[in-house]
Amino acid sequence: MVHEVKNPIIASKLAQLRNKNTPSKDFRELVEEIAIFLTYEAAKKFETHEITIETPLKSCRAEILDEKSFLIVPILRAGLAMSNGVLKILPNASIGHIGLYRDEKTFKPIEYLFKMPPHIEEKIIIAVDPMLATGGSASAALDLLKSHGAKKIFFLNIISAPQGIKKIAENHSDVEIYTAAIDEGLNNHFYIVPGLGDAGDRIFNTF
Ligand code: PRP
Ligand code: URA
Repeated sequence: MVHEVKNPIIASKLAQLRNKNTPSKDFRELVEEIAIFLTYEAAKKFETHEITIETPLKSCRAEILDEKSFLIVPILRAGLAMSNGVLKILPNASIGHIGLYRDEKTFKPIEYLFKMPPHIEEKIIIAVDPMLATGGSASAALDLLKSHGAKKIFFLNIISAPQGIKKIAENHSDVEIYTAAIDEGLNNHFYIVPGLGDAGDRIFNTF
């Protein structure tokens, strides 16, 4: 299931992100800010539980999230900037890391890190990566998480290509995708068009 999160504030931040003249510092902050909006949208599906609290006037029932049940999983490198945003609103969540990069010739994902806390099967996982291009990296990351027991996964990303969405829908139909934009497609180098270029390089200033 794909949710394209449309909102004038996100649209305006996306315009700045896409602009090739936006410097790394601003780019990184924008990625983080958009991740906050995407988390807010996905949170509409999060379950709360009831507690009783005392206001200064009387006791009442209130709803809270169990923040510790969340596991944020950035797909390195570019996902790191998004995880900073998710953490701003779920500061007590755990963080696991998946390291993947796209091979420059085959465009297939190569795994170099998988580091999770124990019992990921009990966690609500928020996997984050700004770019969903061919979907190879996201699909591999979701395969890895599931092979280690993950059950409930939300995937947040900023720009998606229809090809990437199709791949996740085929391989991981149980995973809900929250994206800020669905673009036209991919170029010959499997970059999203119009996209925003290489997200990792723009976040980390590594051109
Ligand atoms: C980018 C991006 C995704 C992947 C998307 O990472 O952050 O992980 O490419 O492409 P795909 O859908 O075709 O797999 P990249 O491989 O450039 O690594 P980086 O984040 O370390 O720069
Ligand atoms: N990775 C990126 O960073 N950008 C793209 O457009 C595709 C893959």
